[in-house]
Amino acid sequence: MQEKLNGLKESALKELESINSLPELEGWRVRYLGRRSELTALLRGLASLPIEERRAAGLLANEVKTSLEGKLTAKEQILHELELERLAQKEAIDITLPGRQMPQGRLHPVTQTINEMCDIFVSLGFQVVEGPEVEWEYYNFEALNIPKEHPARDNMSTFWVDLVLPVNGKDGERPMLLRTHTSPMQVRFMEKNRPPIRIVVPGKVYRYEATNATHLPMFQQVEGLAVDRGVSLADLKGALSEFVRRFFGTERRARFRCDYFPFVEPGVELAIDCFVCHGSGCSLCKGSGWIEIGGAGMVHPDVLRHGGVDPDEYTGFAFGLGIERIPMLRYGIDDIRHFYNNDLRFLRQF
Ligand code: FA5
Repeated sequence: MQEKLNGLKESALKELESINSLPELEGWRVRYLGRRSELTALLRGLASLPIEERRAAGLLANEVKTSLEGKLTAKEQILHELELERLAQKEAIDITLPGRQMPQGRLHPVTQTINEMCDIFVSLGFQVVEGPEVEWEYYNFEALNIPKEHPARDNMSTFWVDLVLPVNGKDGERPMLLRTHTSPMQVRFMEKNRPPIRIVVPGKVYRYEATNATHLPMFQQVEGLAVDRGVSLADLKGALSEFVRRFFGTERRARFRCDYFPFVEPGVELAIDCFVCHGSGCSLCKGSGWIEIGGAGMVHPDVLRHGGVDPDEYTGFAFGLGIERIPMLRYGIDDIRHFYNNDLRFLRQF
């Protein structure tokens, strides 16, 4: 019996030395320490030995078992560490390799301009609000002193919408359109808010007209409206001059000239010296030296009345600036269509 146990231990240890993987080690464990192993059979057979042999054989058998178990644990640990090392080498990440560059998006130059313009007006005390692009004829024209057949409608050729809905649930039914300017928000806002009012309204507007280097059928405007006691034309000039100074820098010149819009009295046109010829006259500014960027004026008393504001108590100024023409002036872009062609070579420059 003792001989058998010693022989068993010897061959088990010899075999263990040549084992190099965890699955092989498991096979070894089953063979030498498993339920059907020779050692287990010998341990079971101890009971049949004469009592004087049983004690010594039992001691030796247990010692062999404990020793094999100890060797198994030690080998298991070694193989585990080797396996981890192997994995670490195989799956190592070379942190010196250059990374793959992620494409980076950015805001569209027109959106950037709107944000920058709104920031300037917010710092002057204005609040930013938005209005609907599908508008009632009433707010777009009639509330702004432009009744049917008024010649001013010819300047704003209209996309009509095939929908007829009641205006605020009253006043019968009236046609709808894609707003031709952001000015309808003047009366909309006054209807719901009391003076003092100071708002800017950025947004898309639509006109049924031919496209060229300075005109699009869809473009964007920023409307401004300030209504309070004692608001004057000097306040309008001050606000717009400050905007031009902050946006374009002190070297650019702004010009205010009389103009006519049915919803302001008096009305003015705001222009900036041409970015190409700096005022001497070129083909872009059609020889005038100036590029018009918007209209403005003192809110007409009728428009104040339509908004529910008493013109004997309050006065106001309003302006509407074409947005695309502003980055055109600033960056020297000679064709407005570049903004909406989705050519990344153009857009990536901003
Ligand atoms: C208006 O739209 C008035 N609502 C502005 C206004 C507001 C006047 C408040 C008085 C008080 P106008 O049609 O001129 O005005 O347009 C304003 C600006 O929009 C123009 O100066 C120009 O910069 C821009 N604009 C006009 N038509 C186009 C177009 N087809 N494409 C690109 N920009 C345009």
